[in-house]
Amino acid sequence: VFSTIPEIPADALFALKGRYTADTRSQKVDLGIGAYRDANGKPWVLPSVREAEKLIHEDPEYNHEYLAISGFAPFIGASAKVILGDESKAIEEQRVVSLQTLSGTGALHIAARFIKKFYTQSQTVYLSQPTWGNHFQVFETVGLKTATYKYWDDATKSLDIKGYLQDIESAEPGSIFVLHSCAHNPTGLDPTREQWVQILEAIKRKGHLPLFDSAYQGFASGDLKNDAWAVQRGVELLNETPILICQSFAKNVGMYGERIGAFHLVLPSAENKKAITSQLQAFTRSEISNPPSYGAKIVTKVLTVPALRAQWEQDLVTMSQRIYKQRVALRDALVALKTPGNWDHIVQQQGMFSFTGLTKAQVQRLETEHAVYLASSGRASVAGLNDHNVSYVAKSIDEAVRF
Ligand code: LMR
Repeated sequence: VFSTIPEIPADALFALKGRYTADTRSQKVDLGIGAYRDANGKPWVLPSVREAEKLIHEDPEYNHEYLAISGFAPFIGASAKVILGDESKAIEEQRVVSLQTLSGTGALHIAARFIKKFYTQSQTVYLSQPTWGNHFQVFETVGLKTATYKYWDDATKSLDIKGYLQDIESAEPGSIFVLHSCAHNPTGLDPTREQWVQILEAIKRKGHLPLFDSAYQGFASGDLKNDAWAVQRGVELLNETPILICQSFAKNVGMYGERIGAFHLVLPSAENKKAITSQLQAFTRSEISNPPSYGAKIVTKVLTVPALRAQWEQDLVTMSQRIYKQRVALRDALVALKTPGNWDHIVQQQGMFSFTGLTKAQVQRLETEHAVYLASSGRASVAGLNDHNVSYVAKSIDEAVRF
């Protein structure tokens, strides 16, 4: 009965990871999946996380019982404050519905199901061009339509704000707009604050539904509050619109495999909160019963124990600064090699990624000839660079560009 099932292509990023792992060349460099690496190219367990784990294991009450369907209550409360701010009026007025999810992807999935089932104005989700590849199938899998809005201007390697605003304007009123709250994936290019206000006001004017995808809070500027600016401004400006927020702690707490995240729905009023909560809980119950507890307990300690919180904020500075230094090192090495082209965008972009501008053919050559792995779009995870490999990567790029 299953003999006619067609095979589909492997996920591009995970296939890339597989090829990198299988590569036996000692000089290989992984600039693929967005996962932080330390100065020696190794995965980094954040010092704040190590401390949190100690506290959890020392606790005589520690156990592996089920969490509630909505998740670990202290985690949900603390995660909402991280993205909405300690002083959030929406939290104070109890008009935020929050649910623990399987990281940011799980939050997007819950958002998608919620929109599919309950949002009657539109079933079209607008994604930036380009965006994280998985966005398309997360929404399409539940039966929503996807479309794109202009974002990256290839010629100038900057934001096509005019095209972006026009696409908001021409979309059917009430469309869903997915906004990367900071450290845009894959371009590393975020709107300025002035541009954000233009975008948010245009969304408001057209009665669109905004969905913020927050996967890199702390990676753009190293500062949690700064990196939540667009979300918090959006919540203030669009006070008559529900706002969906999908939050991941994979990157900023370095808990990639533990799948810790949250979905927050900011409502204009607390009126129907109880009913909405019950529906969201039914999604979770039918799919995963209840969310995983270990990572949620760790993240909660990191967010709420003052000494750990301070350490975490320092960890974010450590990660974002190391990435920034590698951006500068790569740009400088390419300039020193007189590699054809302008490489300043590598330094101007922020967060985990650089949209290098390398072509598919150049990316292919980097992999086959030099064992340097990056996404075929030309996106490089800058976190994979370090003092030991950056000049090798620059020389490899130089060769591929001149080839
Ligand atoms: C990435 O874009 O590299 C990450 O978000 C990892 C993933 O799951 O795709």
